[in-house]
Amino acid sequence: MLNITLDPTILEPLYRQLIRKIRQQISEGILRPGQRLPTTRELSLQLSISRVSVVNAYAELQAGGLLEAHPGRGTFVAMPRNGVDSRTLPSAAATPGMAQILARQGELIAFSGGAPAEEFLPTAALHQALNAVLERDGAMALTYEDTEGYLPLRQLVAQSNAALGIRCAAHDVLITGGCQQALDLAIQALLVEGDTLLTSTPTFLGLLDLARIRRVRVHGVEMDADGIRLDALEKAIATHKPKLLYLAPTHHNPTGTVMPLRRRRALLRIAHEAQLMILEDNVYHELYYGVEPPPPLKALDEHGLVLYANGYSKVILPGTRIGYLIADGPLRERALQVKQAADICTPGLNQRAMHYFLQSGAQVGHLDRVRRACRERRDMALAAAEQHMPAGAVWTLPYGGMYLWIRLPMDGPTASTLYDEALKHGVNFAIGGTFYIEETAESAYHLRLNFAAQPPQRIEEGLRRIGQAWQTLANAKGF
Ligand SMILES: Cc1ncc(COP(=O)(O)O)c(C=O)c1O
Repeated sequence: MLNITLDPTILEPLYRQLIRKIRQQISEGILRPGQRLPTTRELSLQLSISRVSVVNAYAELQAGGLLEAHPGRGTFVAMPRNGVDSRTLPSAAATPGMAQILARQGELIAFSGGAPAEEFLPTAALHQALNAVLERDGAMALTYEDTEGYLPLRQLVAQSNAALGIRCAAHDVLITGGCQQALDLAIQALLVEGDTLLTSTPTFLGLLDLARIRRVRVHGVEMDADGIRLDALEKAIATHKPKLLYLAPTHHNPTGTVMPLRRRRALLRIAHEAQLMILEDNVYHELYYGVEPPPPLKALDEHGLVLYANGYSKVILPGTRIGYLIADGPLRERALQVKQAADICTPGLNQRAMHYFLQSGAQVGHLDRVRRACRERRDMALAAAEQHMPAGAVWTLPYGGMYLWIRLPMDGPTASTLYDEALKHGVNFAIGGTFYIEETAESAYHLRLNFAAQPPQRIEEGLRRIGQAWQTLANAKGF
């Protein structure tokens, strides 16, 4: 039993409080290296919080190197490794992604993260780009950049988006710290505390985090295989009077759905009638495995209703944190002010290196290789799901993106129960309930698997382990 209490009345989410308190107890020596922690079920009961909150907290502490999960034995305070005391490691926010660290922890097959596989990252080309930029620009590359971003990069962004049908000038492009900051700036530029935002349910977790931090109300709009349902959207607009609709119509995270062109047009008509602004997140657009997806909403928008967020994290690399927001008029000015207040500028060296990489043409071959490899991984995940998921499970066919979205049979264990058992079998995944705004009958039974992060043979093995874990639970409980 841990001696921890949480305060549900403060703004900080419960799982964040839990992370902070466990980290504090480790650094104060109250929790000792090698000490076993309660199971997620025990701790959720003890603290009267959801299992998902505890699972997320443990996962983040594992990602930060403070905890270790040992398949079959449980979760432990990490032992000092290679002379490094894990208690001195920086916070999770400053450490590599969860998938990478979990993957390094021996045999665990990590499907849980949102990062591309390390072997896809163009390390040599970036090395070359950084050297070339420093040689070319010297100290100019190391001082403050314009708040709106490095002009040649903004010009290139405007040009490449013109190819998708988006009409914009470099002036309308604001370089941001990843797509995540583009979303944040748009939300801050447009909404004030207490305003209402609509989004699909399920939706991108980072959006839910932003809404919480910026104290914006969020309501979910149901989805089907083609994205958000327009009848549900019309109802939600009438009921909630939102100021903004956030959408990722292409290779949606977590479901992988792509909204067809007809629905995109109809959606824009509804938004126009309601004078509803749309924040479009298109971070997975280029990661398609067959035909190119339909044009972005921004390219179809005739009334200036769409703000457009994108970036290079999923198709090139996440670590340089280069994303962008396309907006014009007063919203652009407001977003610029927020950016200035947030961090003055996105690091100039990174922007210049990304520009160099993009302009060198290296991106084309890179993207080709990544698409081919991800397609192979997607196909392997589909075949392995067919072979190893229990009868009654269903999953989407992702035409792009990085995720397989599985729904377990609803008369068996939930995804969070399966998560603990799966860890014992040496595999993890993202618990689907995390992506929902409110619990539904189905939300507890979903898993999201990042197939792009694992080589094909580990994908097969990972799904086999998930299937085995499910079977172990089913045998024990007589599901
Ligand atoms: C839909 C979506 N939008 C935005 C982001 C954040 O992207 P970035 O790393 O560029 O900030 C992610 C990352 O997982 C995502 O899935």
